[in-house]
Amino acid sequence: MVGGGKKNLWIIANWKSNKTIAEALFWVEEVGPLLQKKENVHVVVCPTFTELEEVKKSVKVGNFPLWVGVQDLSPFPPGAYTGEESAEELKGLADLSIIGHSERRTNFGETDGMVAQKVKRAKEAGIVPLVCVQSGDTLVPQGCSLVAYEPVFAIGSGNPDTPENANLVASKIKQKYPNVQVLYGGSVTSKVVRQFIEQEAISGVLVGGASLDAKEFIKLVKAAYES
Ligand code: PGA
Repeated sequence: MVGGGKKNLWIIANWKSNKTIAEALFWVEEVGPLLQKKENVHVVVCPTFTELEEVKKSVKVGNFPLWVGVQDLSPFPPGAYTGEESAEELKGLADLSIIGHSERRTNFGETDGMVAQKVKRAKEAGIVPLVCVQSGDTLVPQGCSLVAYEPVFAIGSGNPDTPENANLVASKIKQKYPNVQVLYGGSVTSKVVRQFIEQEAISGVLVGGASLDAKEFIKLVKAAYES
């Protein structure tokens, strides 16, 4: 009963380093009009920084029930931090920020300490932090109420975790941090999304590859609406 006003449902598209501005706008114009306004459902798209402002404008003009997020933000305040996007600058453009994705931890040396700093900056700027954890043992920083369990083996592999195990890990996280909602991410497609969101401890999905194609993403959202 996800769509019936019971459980919150988050469907979050993580585009990673993909799409030109034109491709991003094409996606928003295809997906936006097909989204339904539902109180307990949040659909979020996280483009790259270069697409962010155009995507935000397009969502506003179309009045689509679509949040716009970012894939990362700076652990620092505005200032002399070359190449970084501070939460303060993203205010008004981003509703949510993915933080601590395993690709950032692995490729960019992001630590639990940096993740905690980023959560703090996001909250100060009124941006909802979504912290990615790789197992039930990853630290969830204080003040974070949205977590995505994303086992590394499942990311981009076409080989998702089992819904039952994802539910077990999500339950473990919720036991440790009672106020968090837990999403699952890793090879989620329109075919498997329902199996995950129907699990008791899972409140949504973080979708990489399957979010890039507008038609597949709409299929995925519709499958989730119907669960
Ligand atoms: P995937 O990526 O859906 O392509 O596995 C998920 C993610 O990394 O957030």
